[in-house]
Amino acid sequence: MNIDGKPYRTIWLGEDGGAVQTIDQTKLPHALEIVTLETLDDVARAISTMQVRGAPLIGATAAYGVALALRSDASDEALDRACATLAATRPTAINLRWALDEMREAVRNQPREARVAVAYARAAAICDEDVETNRRIGEHGLGLIQAHAEKKKGARINILTHCNAGWLACVDWGTALAPIYRAHDAGLDVHVWVDETRPRNQGAALTAFELGGHGVPHTIIADNAGGHLMQKKLVDLCIVGTDRTTANGDVANKIGTYLKALAARDNDVPFLVALPGTSIDWSLEDGSLIPIEERSADEVTRVAGRLPDGRIASVQIAPEGSPAANYGFDVTPVRLITGFITERGVAPATRDGLTTLYPKHRAKSAA
Ligand code: MRU
Repeated sequence: MNIDGKPYRTIWLGEDGGAVQTIDQTKLPHALEIVTLETLDDVARAISTMQVRGAPLIGATAAYGVALALRSDASDEALDRACATLAATRPTAINLRWALDEMREAVRNQPREARVAVAYARAAAICDEDVETNRRIGEHGLGLIQAHAEKKKGARINILTHCNAGWLACVDWGTALAPIYRAHDAGLDVHVWVDETRPRNQGAALTAFELGGHGVPHTIIADNAGGHLMQKKLVDLCIVGTDRTTANGDVANKIGTYLKALAARDNDVPFLVALPGTSIDWSLEDGSLIPIEERSADEVTRVAGRLPDGRIASVQIAPEGSPAANYGFDVTPVRLITGFITERGVAPATRDGLTTLYPKHRAKSAA
């Protein structure tokens, strides 16, 4: 997607063909700063400090982290160490584990001298696959938005989204935002309610930045406003992303997603989850088993923003010494979800819906 008319992906190789470059998302929307990652530690730090974030992008960045690690040591032990270090950076997004498994699989049986090149090639392919997957999610989701637009006889479609499941969370396009971009590009009148998404404000900072950059009409709302808007019939659809969806269809996503799904159910608003197959954890039966990340209390007691002189600062908003809890994700039970939008099509939110799209997992999932 474009920033100031210039096309970007979220991750690419530098001019030397070795270092990895990415956009520092902790600085957006105030500054566009590119960070260069040259070592395994650089990558681990970028993921855990959330310079890069969003489930698919975490996976893609970790894949390059393995390639960078192998540059200095291509042994089996170094490969295992790199995967363990990267896997520990953030616990909830399953795409991280998926990408590391892919890298291990690609590299493991290669002779040492070939491993670096193979790792770079697989990491690049993971990025390209992510772009194509999200393009397809956009295509399938477009059909769904079109159907709603027809029902509304062309009147504006209001879509509520939570956190950032746009191109900044992926390599390009996004998951939840891909159908919205496609609908906007197809000339449909779409407007997005953007949950600010406390504590880190990925909605206000990143989703609004993306949508604005692409010219999609949007309005930032306080996290607690969604229910009110739904009661007033100002939301036609909710579309969110996911960090991990279990075999039965339970969805872990940014904290607060569950409350939106409850409000959507109470108001008969379709609640859709856009996801690539790589976000499904077929090994877990249901969402109660998903590890939920807990982050620093500072993210709750402080907020970051731009001062009038242009500097980016973090300010305290809570009494000094008040304890705070910071759960990063919650689980929306499958019963509250209307449907899944995937790269393979749209399915009802049921176990069968998922396995119809991914039949390879049918027997395993039913067991
Ligand atoms: O903590 P974050 O910013 O990495 O959380 C991101 C989300 O919750 C997204 O909704 C999710 O990763 C889906 S990304 C397409």
